[in-house]
Amino acid sequence: MPAISACAPGKAILFGEHAVVYGRPAIAAPVTQVQVKATVLADPLGPQGRVHIQAPEIQLDCDLANLTEDDPIALAIQGVKTALAADHLPALHLRISSSIPVAAGLGSGAAVSVAILRALSAFLGQPLPNETVSALAFEVEKKHHGTPSGIDNTVVTYARPIYFVRGQPFEMLQPAEAFTLIIADSGVKSPTHTAVSAVRQAWQADPDRFEALFDAIGQISQQARQIITQGPVMALGPLMSENQRLLTQVGVSSAELDFLVETALQAGAAGAKLSGAGRGGNMIALADAENAAKIAAALQNAGAKRVIISSVNPVLSDYKK
Ligand code: PMV
Repeated sequence: MPAISACAPGKAILFGEHAVVYGRPAIAAPVTQVQVKATVLADPLGPQGRVHIQAPEIQLDCDLANLTEDDPIALAIQGVKTALAADHLPALHLRISSSIPVAAGLGSGAAVSVAILRALSAFLGQPLPNETVSALAFEVEKKHHGTPSGIDNTVVTYARPIYFVRGQPFEMLQPAEAFTLIIADSGVKSPTHTAVSAVRQAWQADPDRFEALFDAIGQISQQARQIITQGPVMALGPLMSENQRLLTQVGVSSAELDFLVETALQAGAAGAKLSGAGRGGNMIALADAENAAKIAAALQNAGAKRVIISSVNPVLSDYKK
């Protein structure tokens, strides 16, 4: 049986993180410069049910039986078994390789789940449709984030810019024109669930103030949706900076993120903000394509651990697996 591989991209939240957990709209886009690839191949010598897993980026080399039940990889495999009503798996090797940094707000967790769900279901001869892949990846996210909005699994599964409201059908956005994002990693690891639960505590302590902040962020997402689909896209810049100001009030920025945001603006970015859970992880800046390299260099010189130039494009083509 030939090896079967599937990929899933990273993602950036352009607007609305955290507020999206509280029912406000958010916008996210795939970042295809980084990705997870899962490969499944038969192990003709192994006993039935033995699943051997290798994931070099997280120094994992073991059998499925050695993972805890709530391990995200184990949960994704179990998700495929449940969806396909497969009691047993044939002996197989699962290799997971990733260029998406972990705990950095680029959707690595969702991408690992999506790539495994696709590769394993295809290997078993019944590739799962996107809707099921996204729903199963959401179940994995729930075990690890507590209260995920569902935006990560959705954008990573469909690999399209999306406008997302929790619990509602999402909308794929067709950008009026391409725009360039510079994505810079502060190098500070920040697990999503820690930031999300800190925000929840602050919201519980002062619901009125936080509801008002989330309302303001939600309005920015609505305005951004219109600008993305109708242009001019550079008008997103001030909205990003305003979103960053509000996220700072929510309490999820950090000295490192503030510094990178300021650096990008000084270098000529039209707007900049943290992206994802915050308190570390990545920030994004909007720039003219001609300025992107200069801003990327400024961020690198300012100490960013990794800088990616990415573009959100109007021409929609299927994400290549
Ligand atoms: O996975 P991250 O770090 O990009 O954060 C997800 C965005 C949040 O809004 C903070 C959480 C969520 O579930 O939407």
